[in-house]
Amino acid sequence: MRARLWTAPLLTMAEQMPKGRLLDVGCGHGVLTALLAYQREDRQVVALDPDTRKTGWARASVGRLPNVTVESATLEALAQTQAGLFDAAAVADVMYLLPLDAWVGFLKAIRTLLKPSGKLYLKEAEADGSWRELKCMAQERVMVQLLGRTHSSGALKILSRDKMRELISAAGFRVTCEQSLSRGYTTPHVLFVGECA
Ligand SMILES: C[S@@+](CC[C@H](N)C(=O)[O-])C[C@H]1O[C@@H](n2cnc3c(N)ncnc32)[C@H](O)[C@@H]1O
Repeated sequence: MRARLWTAPLLTMAEQMPKGRLLDVGCGHGVLTALLAYQREDRQVVALDPDTRKTGWARASVGRLPNVTVESATLEALAQTQAGLFDAAAVADVMYLLPLDAWVGFLKAIRTLLKPSGKLYLKEAEADGSWRELKCMAQERVMVQLLGRTHSSGALKILSRDKMRELISAAGFRVTCEQSLSRGYTTPHVLFVGECA
């Protein structure tokens, strides 16, 4: 979890997110959830991940905060019961684990969960042709395919910034901010902010 804090700009992401009901999609061990919820009583965070090993850890740690609920569920299952209830959704390094043809459906399911004024905060690594991209893919092959540390929903692929913007827009979001956050990191981080169009 410490490594995750040092290697990804999750604090920058958390600081930009609003108060209210927030959803952390693919929360993993709950590092971003903690940054969103700790000493922030003005936020209620639902942290969701289908990997029960990780939600177990998250529940035992950040899940003890009074403003956090950890759900071992899929996005689609949550969309059945909590549609239109969230002010914002965070998605940090989840999309690269999805097949390309699942991107739009997945983001549409997130959109269903948001209020009409809701916002999407999506952080991914981008395919920018740099040494950072090569390092990132090598690292993820080890973590996902060799060690099985991360649950993949069928893929392991990072996309160009243009392609990501196109898919986010196709899911019904107006991209209002696009920020490179790779400076000081060895991964080509990029953060998109989208409003429901
Ligand atoms: C690299 S981890 C990122 C964890 C966390 N967002 C963070 O930034 O520390 C990717 C997470 O995405 C989750 N994941 C994979 N497929 C998913 C899906 N279809 N829906 C929700 N989460 C998914 C994995 O279980 C894993 O915990």
